[in-house]
Amino acid sequence: MHSLPHLVRSGATARLVVDGQPFTIRGGELGNSSMERAYLAPYWSNLVEMGLNAVVAPVYWDVLEPVEGRFDWTTVDHLIEDARAHGMRLVLLWFGSWKNSMSCYAPAWVKMDVERFPRARTSHGAPLEILSPFAAANRDADARAFAALLAHLRDVDRESTVVMVQVENEIGMIPEARDHTPDAEAAFAGPVPAELIEHLVTHRDELGAALHAEWHASGAQEQGTWTEVFGDSAATEEIFQAWHFARYVDAVAAAGKAEHPLPMYTNAALIRPGAQPGQYPSAGPLPHLADVWRAGAPALDFIAPDIYFPDFARWADAYADSGNPLFVPEALRSVDAAANALYAFGKHGALGFSPFGIESVSGNEAAMLAGAYDVVAQLTPLIAEHAGDGSMTGLLPPTADMRTPHRVRLDDVVLEATYERVPAPSLADGVINETGQAHGTQELPAAAIVIRTGPDELVVAGIGVTLTFHEPPRPAGGAAQVVGILSCEEGRYDDAADGGWQHLRWLNGDQTHQGRHVRLEPGRFTVQRVRLYRYR
Ligand code: DGJ
Repeated sequence: MHSLPHLVRSGATARLVVDGQPFTIRGGELGNSSMERAYLAPYWSNLVEMGLNAVVAPVYWDVLEPVEGRFDWTTVDHLIEDARAHGMRLVLLWFGSWKNSMSCYAPAWVKMDVERFPRARTSHGAPLEILSPFAAANRDADARAFAALLAHLRDVDRESTVVMVQVENEIGMIPEARDHTPDAEAAFAGPVPAELIEHLVTHRDELGAALHAEWHASGAQEQGTWTEVFGDSAATEEIFQAWHFARYVDAVAAAGKAEHPLPMYTNAALIRPGAQPGQYPSAGPLPHLADVWRAGAPALDFIAPDIYFPDFARWADAYADSGNPLFVPEALRSVDAAANALYAFGKHGALGFSPFGIESVSGNEAAMLAGAYDVVAQLTPLIAEHAGDGSMTGLLPPTADMRTPHRVRLDDVVLEATYERVPAPSLADGVINETGQAHGTQELPAAAIVIRTGPDELVVAGIGVTLTFHEPPRPAGGAAQVVGILSCEEGRYDDAADGGWQHLRWLNGDQTHQGRHVRLEPGRFTVQRVRLYRYR
């Protein structure tokens, strides 16, 4: 029997299963106004050429429900048909009550009836173009429309072209930390709901550091108002608002799942350095609020970061470290997207990765993304097998100008990595770029996925990374053994040939610096299988 796309959890990671097979989302998100058939038509071939297997695409509440209770599915149906025709899956983004804090995708019949569908208000009482999460009418109208969308998908999408759904988009309060409608004021003066307290108590030892600190600073009380339990601060206002956003989204997601239980998540705009809640979109599904969102929105499968900042690894790690499967629905479009993709899949066994504005990606950015996605496609069965069990990692330069080797432990071997972000000179003439110094002007991505497939057997894949291998320090003392390279071969994992390894060539001599290192050339993605040995 055909099973729906679903997640299989294993600890903090999860695997997406589509048509019974592990599916890594090699995605790209369309620009906000790029999902309609005629506009999108010329871009599909480029999306296919970049090696995408899924397009992350918005669907608009105002267009789908122009009159209350009357739905027009034309845009959704066209998208599904065209994705299918190009062998592509879809992650649909529900632009419902909130899109980047605002409510610009609410239908006109919602926008124009502020009595029935109340707006959030500032502390001075000014209305905002943000639907208030404290109004049941807002929530119920959104939930009815979302449920109708999922029911429609159930009826028309028998082939599971749609594999996942994002509920709302970059929720967050601006320009203040929380809503100040009369209902919001009453809720803020009232007690912290028992469900949230219960979550805090039950998960006392696993709470995120910030929430743990706020709760404990006020004596870890198990009842009281918001300021009694968490203190009188902007952080408390943010926790309060996050709880109410989460409860609203939970109702919307649950209504959708009742019709068609696809995996669902919601995404966050991240925090600009130094910004306070309200200066950044307050109360979204951010890592420091992961516990609040988890407790408030159990119908969501996970929360997701939109990572546009240069410190990609820090944000990816923050989401994964909070016990949340990683999916990056929006990432900065640049040559580094290719490197960040490898890090997300290698380090965190990510569900997927997706640069924003994918239809505008071209030239070197497109070539690099295609190279990274080809590697991910080849390694998908291995990623599914090794995610979350400590036998796989992702390597990304910790800083842009890093010169000292980067040491990462992978089980019983220490990887020492250096990165080359520019093409090296004349490798064919036997010149090795050992310093990582610039020899050209064009920066290239540098990153790797490393998987320990057996005792002293590794798969090393990526671009611009040179690795040496060492034994981990021995706690009991004693000299460590030297780790040498027994063999290194380049090849492909080829689905067409039973998922088997297709040998291309043995790498030795200049290509391994006469046995000293394994090198993923800059400018060219490769997959290598390496056998190590140890001696004294
Ligand atoms: C983040 C939003 O989620 C997207 O819909 C889009 O508005 C981008 N920002 C634009 O950079």
